[in-house]
Amino acid sequence: MFGTLVLVLAGVSSAYSATFNVTVGADGQLAYSPAFVRAAPGDFVNFIFNPKNHTVTQSSFAQPCTPLDGGYDTGFVPVAAGTVDLPVMQLPISQADTPIWFHCKQPVGNHCGQGMVFAINPPTEGNNTFDAFQAQARATLNATATTSVTSVWSTPSPQPWATATATVTNGTSVWTTTYTSYLGSVPPSPAPQPIDHKIIVGVDTQFIYSPANISAAIGDTVTFEFHPKNHTVTQSSFSNPCQPLEQSTGTVGFKSGFQPVSADDTEFPTFRITINDTAPIWGYCGQTGHCAAGMVFAINAVESGPNNFANFVKLAKQTGATSTSTSLAPATTTGSSNNNSNAALSNAKISWIAIGFSIVAGLMF
Ligand SMILES: *[C@@H]1O[C@H](CO)[C@@H](O)[C@H](O)[C@H]1NC(C)=O
Ligand SMILES: *[C@@H]1O[C@H](CO)[C@@H](O)[C@H](O)[C@H]1NC(C)=O
Ligand SMILES: *[C@@H]1O[C@H](CO)[C@@H](O)[C@H](O)[C@H]1NC(C)=O
Ligand SMILES: *[C@@H]1O[C@H](CO)[C@@H](O)[C@H](O)[C@H]1NC(C)=O
Ligand SMILES: *[C@@H]1O[C@H](CO)[C@@H](O)[C@H](O)[C@H]1NC(C)=O
Ligand SMILES: *[C@@H]1O[C@H](CO)[C@@H](O)[C@H](O)[C@H]1NC(C)=O
Ligand SMILES: *[C@@H]1O[C@H](CO)[C@@H](O)[C@H](O)[C@H]1NC(C)=O
Ligand SMILES: *[C@@H]1O[C@H](CO)[C@@H](O)[C@H](O)[C@H]1NC(C)=O
Ligand SMILES: *[C@@H]1O[C@H](CO)[C@@H](O)[C@H](O)[C@H]1NC(C)=O
Repeated sequence: MFGTLVLVLAGVSSAYSATFNVTVGADGQLAYSPAFVRAAPGDFVNFIFNPKNHTVTQSSFAQPCTPLDGGYDTGFVPVAAGTVDLPVMQLPISQADTPIWFHCKQPVGNHCGQGMVFAINPPTEGNNTFDAFQAQARATLNATATTSVTSVWSTPSPQPWATATATVTNGTSVWTTTYTSYLGSVPPSPAPQPIDHKIIVGVDTQFIYSPANISAAIGDTVTFEFHPKNHTVTQSSFSNPCQPLEQSTGTVGFKSGFQPVSADDTEFPTFRITINDTAPIWGYCGQTGHCAAGMVFAINAVESGPNNFANFVKLAKQTGATSTSTSLAPATTTGSSNNNSNAALSNAKISWIAIGFSIVAGLMF
């Protein structure tokens, strides 16, 4: 159907057709950019596939994450990290004014459920906007994402995650592992030579872990060494930095308990954990006031997304403060909301305006 139309249009003139470049998964993000385009019959959309393994698959507004029978589908386009000549798939546009909906059908990590959707000519108002489409896609995410979100804060809400299985190879041994597939997290791979990472707890009597933000591979260990004062190493979650993990999620996390060390001690107690997957690990010091002072750490935080280490520290300072003093107002200085899809949409609008200019420029020739 598309093919016929292209031939017809080619015979008319190509001077009036516009080509839209849409990146698929640029910068490791589960997103198309721009998130939607306004195209006319005869135009083309070039999908530029970035590293990872994505698709552009037509779906419907009602079922964003279900491939449409007989609809457009690029199939999986695996692209190795560092690829320079990115593969491009071209979609000729034949329909005028009818919205066309797409998603990435990659099930590992549930790309669609994490909002990786795209549209051509979505209505700007009414019920079927791009925003509504993306919200519907996100709603398909499994109930695991229903964490207790504190929406008062201007910090990002937790990113959805899903459980995935992968085959891990280490030398001659191969095994299957279940891991937390989290936006931006790397697939599980064991350290070729497991190493022990050392984190000093309360270095120079300051309320810090040093280093506070590390990367560790599967099989590695992390040893916390307690310096003078009376600290803990307690696992928490991104959304509730200053609460034990089981309190916010029901999953029992690791805990060192209080480790009092006096100023003249020369032997420092230690606490060791083993890294079992590549999902981020968050933690804090359970001593009164320390978490609010920013005494938190992260292992394998994903810096490319909103749940990065800096935001974790910010959230710890905010929630830690209000948990001890209710008179503190939530920070409102940033002016940002935790409405991430909105931010994405306004970016898309900006890109769209830019593309609008290039169409106009094209028509002038
Ligand atoms: C799309 O990408 C191609 C190849 O990189 C480039 O030549 C073209 O100018 C781009 N078009 C637009 C509208 O940005
Ligand atoms: C791409 O993803 C699909 C679906 O998960 C999988 O079947 C396929 O093996 C993947 N390809 C590569 C090269 O990883
Ligand atoms: C939009 O949704 C609302 C609430 O579900 C419904 O009452 C209304 O009829 C819908 N409008 C259209 C144009 O479908
Ligand atoms: C949630 O996951 C379970 C198990 O994978 C599946 O059976 C169920 O259909 C999923 N629910 C939704 C709403 O996707
Ligand atoms: C991977 O293999 C090496 C060498 O056999 C071994 O020392 C290491 O513990 C293995 N890693 C894991 C995570 O099993
Ligand atoms: C360490 O802190 C905990 C909690 O505040 C307290 O119960 C404990 O007595 C302290 N230990 C010492 C030796 O100060
Ligand atoms: C890794 O797995 C071991 C054994 O199941 C468990 O004791 C340990 O707590 C796990 N590590 C983390 C960081 O959850
Ligand atoms: C955390 O570590 C990552 C990776 O080393 C780094 O890019 C990032 O800047 C660090 N963030 C902070 C707040 O230190
Ligand atoms: C996100 O923005 C939309 C549109 O402004 C609004 O209707 C919705 O309530 C917002 N959601 C949140 C969580 O703030």
